[in-house]
Amino acid sequence: MNQTKKNLLSIQNLYLDLFVNNQNLPILQDITFSIQEGEILALVGESGCGKSVTSLAITKLLPNNFANYKSGNIYFENQNIFTLSEEELIKLRGKDIAYIFQDPFTSLNPILKIKKQIIESYLLHISPNIREAIEKAEYLLQKVGITEVRERLESYPGQMSGGMLQRICIAMALMCNPKLLIADEPTSALDVTVQSQLIELLLNLKQELKMSILFISHDIGLVGYLADRIAVMYAGQIIELGAKEHVIKTPLHPYTKSLIASVPTIHIARNVPLKIIPGIVPTPNEYPKGCHFSTRCEQVFIKCNEQKPKLQNVQNQSVRCFLYD
Ligand SMILES: Nc1ncnc2c1ncn2[C@@H]1O[C@H](COP(=O)(O)OP(=O)(O)OP(=O)(O)O)[C@@H](O)[C@H]1O
Ligand code: SF4
Ligand SMILES: [Mg+2]
Repeated sequence: MNQTKKNLLSIQNLYLDLFVNNQNLPILQDITFSIQEGEILALVGESGCGKSVTSLAITKLLPNNFANYKSGNIYFENQNIFTLSEEELIKLRGKDIAYIFQDPFTSLNPILKIKKQIIESYLLHISPNIREAIEKAEYLLQKVGITEVRERLESYPGQMSGGMLQRICIAMALMCNPKLLIADEPTSALDVTVQSQLIELLLNLKQELKMSILFISHDIGLVGYLADRIAVMYAGQIIELGAKEHVIKTPLHPYTKSLIASVPTIHIARNVPLKIIPGIVPTPNEYPKGCHFSTRCEQVFIKCNEQKPKLQNVQNQSVRCFLYD
């Protein structure tokens, strides 16, 4: 069924450095994945592996004096974002691609009423008609489960709970009918009950509004429930990519296998011992010369220390590991 769908976003062999403390750090190395129309792609991996940097690179949100987009291409609806002017990028960010971040408290301005913040992008990108913008905001706030919407619009962020504010951020992101919603750990700052409510909400909205979602998380158990496909990241690279059934049930990469074996819910269901991955993710200035996972891999062999494996198609998924050469 997926084969008939079109790619909305396609990132091809992206290499990106960040300039930090007078050093060029090779943060992303050979990032390749696509998001199809109407699908949820999850980007999953441990802290520091480059998930947020990847998501910000999609609309060139990292400024040129800080980020060096060294090579590769990013296409959104067949437009190469590296060829867009700053004006075109601003339009893309506000309208066709919208973001929700982890912490709703820092996403909103504490000294401005919700109303002013929620209608801003609509006025800029869709129509300058304030009445129309407020009607759309009221409609979307109801859709994300906010009651007494008129009162809420007149409130300030500090008057609301984290869960409610994140619902408002979701409504705000939907004001211009984005084709792609990028949600960077949108529930990890919230308690478990609110988390599951928001996940159900995102699933319903995606179905109803026919948008695509890039869902970023460190929790492979959670994305196994939510996503259509999963891209697993490790130390600046995609190391496995495939339909969620394949990645969760038959992981190929040793890191994905360990990641899944370390999730309590999945391990209980399969009756296998819970595993802890020994060691830590290398930082970008100490990525190994060969496979980035070589310092922690139980199956490492000589070639792994000398060369970098490429992402290749194996069985039903793509995997970056010499065991499958
Ligand atoms: N503003 C910044 N200044 C310095 N280094 C940064 C900055 N942003 C990202 N990095 C570095 O880039 C690498 C990737 O970071 P990124 O935030 O993308 O990771 P992540 O996978 O999103 O992690 P987390 O799960 O903790 O959010 C890390 O080594 C991080 O230290
Ligand atoms: S390439 Fe080698 S070190 Fe890397 S994951 Fe595969 S077996 Fe392990
Ligand atoms: Mg992050």
